Amino acid sequence: MPRTPRAMNPVQPATHTPKSEALAAPRDTLTITDNRTGKQYEIPITNGAIRALDLRQIKVDPREFGMMSYDPAFNNTASCISHVTYIDGDVGILRYRGYPIEELAEKSTYLETAYLLLFAELPNATQLKDWIWHITHHTFIHESIKKFLDGFHYDAHPMGMLISTIAALSTFYPDAKDIFNKDSRLKQTWRLIGKMPTLAGFAYRHSLGMPFVYPDNELSYPGNFLNMLFRTTELKYHPNPTLERALDVLFILHADHEQNCSANAMRCVGSSHVDPYSATAAATAALYGPLHGGANEEVLAMLMEIGSVQKVPDFIKRVKAGEQRLMGFGHRVYKNYDPRARLIKRIAYEVFELMGKNPLLEIALECERIALEDDYFVKRKLYPNVDFYTGLIYQSMGFPMTMFPVLFAIPRTSGWIAQWEEMLLDPEQKIARPRQIYAGQDTRSYVPIEQRA
Ligand code: ACO
Repeated sequence: MPRTPRAMNPVQPATHTPKSEALAAPRDTLTITDNRTGKQYEIPITNGAIRALDLRQIKVDPREFGMMSYDPAFNNTASCISHVTYIDGDVGILRYRGYPIEELAEKSTYLETAYLLLFAELPNATQLKDWIWHITHHTFIHESIKKFLDGFHYDAHPMGMLISTIAALSTFYPDAKDIFNKDSRLKQTWRLIGKMPTLAGFAYRHSLGMPFVYPDNELSYPGNFLNMLFRTTELKYHPNPTLERALDVLFILHADHEQNCSANAMRCVGSSHVDPYSATAAATAALYGPLHGGANEEVLAMLMEIGSVQKVPDFIKRVKAGEQRLMGFGHRVYKNYDPRARLIKRIAYEVFELMGKNPLLEIALECERIALEDDYFVKRKLYPNVDFYTGLIYQSMGFPMTMFPVLFAIPRTSGWIAQWEEMLLDPEQKIARPRQIYAGQDTRSYVPIEQRA
């Protein structure tokens, strides 16, 4: 709901307003008193927020730039009005387009959820069939991409290969530059969602030195992905239905998460009007970091480093001493149990029943048990996040650790595109360009090198 701009007027201090009168007439405004000048400013409040630009009129001297808000890491700044995903981090709620994540995880498929994220409504039967057909028929990648992959070392991280090959797609589809053309955007959406598993599968096979496996259009989206990863000599790959469904649900849970680091990267880079492949490569790079989608890889490394249940208390002590973080714990938005972590824990047991229990599970459960009772974590509201258990599942399913963030990037693509498109079509959005508070040197003259100390 775009806000109607309202004119901003500085108001003079209200000298004798009785308190009862002020309470009798509540207004959706915020009155700010600038104690430097004694001036008051009345600023509209919309959706519980004020516009940072409304602060600009606050100045001591008319020649000044005006007041800004300082918010490193966007701790308390809304960068957009979005209709895609809703999170209430205090109570642990996550909804895509209004649908609770728990219902989608139980009843939907990843491709249907991707449609919901992108088109705002669940598809009818014809729309879903058409959507799946188009995604399925955009899974092949240009043969030249294989040559790029061949150029990577055998031990190259698959996220590096994924980021590079996504960016390379832009060179194959110059039509993607036509970002304000709805049909073009749709085509790039089919391509991106369709090709991500193929790029990921090929990167994985390259790291093993195994031949690439081409997409199989008869398989489901997650089933085909498993095919491209794990098929060997069999003529037809038949994915295990439990693993196929587990992967599909994990894809649903990872599809979007409102303005997280990578969605913000997608919007920010996309705001320069670059093509969506380049913006998706940037978002994938953001996801790679250990504080974001790379955390699931870090969780496993951490559990392996702890080594045994007996060593967990010692490890927690080190975390509390600030020597390291308990990876897979804590979240900028969730100050309660991440609802995705709860669902993922359930999937973990389904997968373990089939594949055998992951020996690291006991260590993870002990970390969780201690952390949920410990004052350090309780006080800071640190709960398991989406990444705490995903690594254990992926490992049991046969994925190497380096593939974990790749498994996150594949489904997040639909969320990134939904966020990107919303940004592009929002008349209030412009190229993203934050301000700074300059605290560096004042002007000084160049000193020739021979005169420098
Ligand atoms: N282990 C130990 N202490 C932690 C952890 C953790 N995992 N996370 C936060 N804290 C502590 C901080 O040290 C800080 O303590 P202080 O107040 O004494 O200084 C306090 O909790 C607040 O932490 P911030 O870093 O300010 O919280 P922020 O919102 O910036 O960070 C983040 C969120 C990055 C997720 C953080 O919790 C973290 O690093 N977690 C581990 C990495 C992780 O699991 N990332 C995946 C997130 S989910 C995702 O991206 C898909």
